[in-house]
Amino acid sequence: MPRLITLSRAARLVGVKRGVLQKRIQQGELRTFEGELLLSDLLHAYPQTEIEDTTMLERVESIMENAVNKIIRPDEEGPDTNTLAARILSLGQELAQARAEARRSTDIIDSLKNRFEEISSSDEKTQQQAFSTLRDWFYRTLESLQTVDDDSGLVAKEAFLRVMAAQVRILPSGHEFFIEGTDSILEAGLRGGLALNYGCSNGNCGLCKCKVISGQVKQIATHDYALTEAEKGLGYILTCANTAVTDVVLEADEAHGSYDITPQEIEVKVKKLERIDDRVIFLQARTPRTKRLRFLAGQYLSLKIDGLPAQDCSIASCPCDDMNLQFHIPVVAGDPFSEKPEDCLEPGASITISGPSGDFILNEDSPRSLAFIACDAGFGPIKSLIEHAMALDIAEDIHLFWIVTPGNHHYRGNLCRSWADALDNFHYTALSATEDAAVAEHLPEIIASLPRAASLDFYACMPAPLLGQTESFLLDHGVPAQQLSLEPIRK
Ligand code: FES
Repeated sequence: MPRLITLSRAARLVGVKRGVLQKRIQQGELRTFEGELLLSDLLHAYPQTEIEDTTMLERVESIMENAVNKIIRPDEEGPDTNTLAARILSLGQELAQARAEARRSTDIIDSLKNRFEEISSSDEKTQQQAFSTLRDWFYRTLESLQTVDDDSGLVAKEAFLRVMAAQVRILPSGHEFFIEGTDSILEAGLRGGLALNYGCSNGNCGLCKCKVISGQVKQIATHDYALTEAEKGLGYILTCANTAVTDVVLEADEAHGSYDITPQEIEVKVKKLERIDDRVIFLQARTPRTKRLRFLAGQYLSLKIDGLPAQDCSIASCPCDDMNLQFHIPVVAGDPFSEKPEDCLEPGASITISGPSGDFILNEDSPRSLAFIACDAGFGPIKSLIEHAMALDIAEDIHLFWIVTPGNHHYRGNLCRSWADALDNFHYTALSATEDAAVAEHLPEIIASLPRAASLDFYACMPAPLLGQTESFLLDHGVPAQQLSLEPIRK
């Protein structure tokens, strides 16, 4: 029986990004059947894939872990023993079923053989000739079937991957992600770049409730929120307290815009405070484990530090790490925090954050490639968007242009270069303006370097006075207004 495989799993199996497979599908090199690929087609397209060859897969995974600077994983990377046992049991059941089918097929073949022998020994000449032709065809076909097992290595590798990671598909969006290690469905979904609905992350609020449509889940944490018997009967679970044993399909709420995110107020603790240079302060703050921040990449928060007026700051980290929030705060002359941040905040000090706010967010429904233009500390929210785009793994190409004005420098240039080194579809250009107001001098070369610039989605974060000229320039060069997203540097 032809074996079908989802696009996400196929990408992992042969060690390429989903976008690469999508491109080959668009170009007619790979066929799809209701969104899935034939395993035999995949092997034909990637003949070098072998069961022993896990290097491509490992490479892609380490790239995403290291280059994207994702959250720190727990030491134990594999699923827990109970989940592993349940997955192996599920595969065992499939194997038993396949064996039973194979036995049935063998029985049918044997009786066909017997029947042919009976007919061929009959006296009627014409009938004998007809059936001997049919018999020859049948034996030839049988022989060819016995030799076509080229994809057995791939099937075995796919089975191995299914033991190590279950795939989750969310309805109605169709978003997919994998659950690895001991992650809950919610943790894996956030890591995969999804804006799943949730609140406390620890089984109290019920906001992460969703319905299991198919597949098997397993509770991995106790929860105080009580599902009714009717809800349990309908297959409702809490994503923060369950993991997937087999591949599952869930019906779950996701945020589609800032209007879907409830405002929150959380007291966070300073984890790291560092003056990167004369122009930018790096702040990392940690939320309580039981009260994390739900936000969309690119949004900003109001930060209230004791003794100082509240200030708006863009979040520079990815929603996939909702406990560790980063900010790249521009230094402003005369501002007490800018001048002596260490006098205002010590490691472990409290900050009250409120929000999130803002619509400088990724258009996840867009099939277009992405171009980011950051100026100075505008790199902060751009970094958040890029990490989110990488977690989603949907953009075919990502271009980053980082312009610094005199006195500033590319303070996270190494990170950008590591993205470019690790990911084939990421392109980084560092630019320096000759004076503060001369950012626009680089726009012509940015446009010239982009193939089909008008077909890209542009995201730019820079000082407010420079946004107008950037917008006019891009519009004049054919970029439609709905493909532009502009944000001033917050402070
Ligand atoms: S997030 Fe609150 S119960 Fe799951």
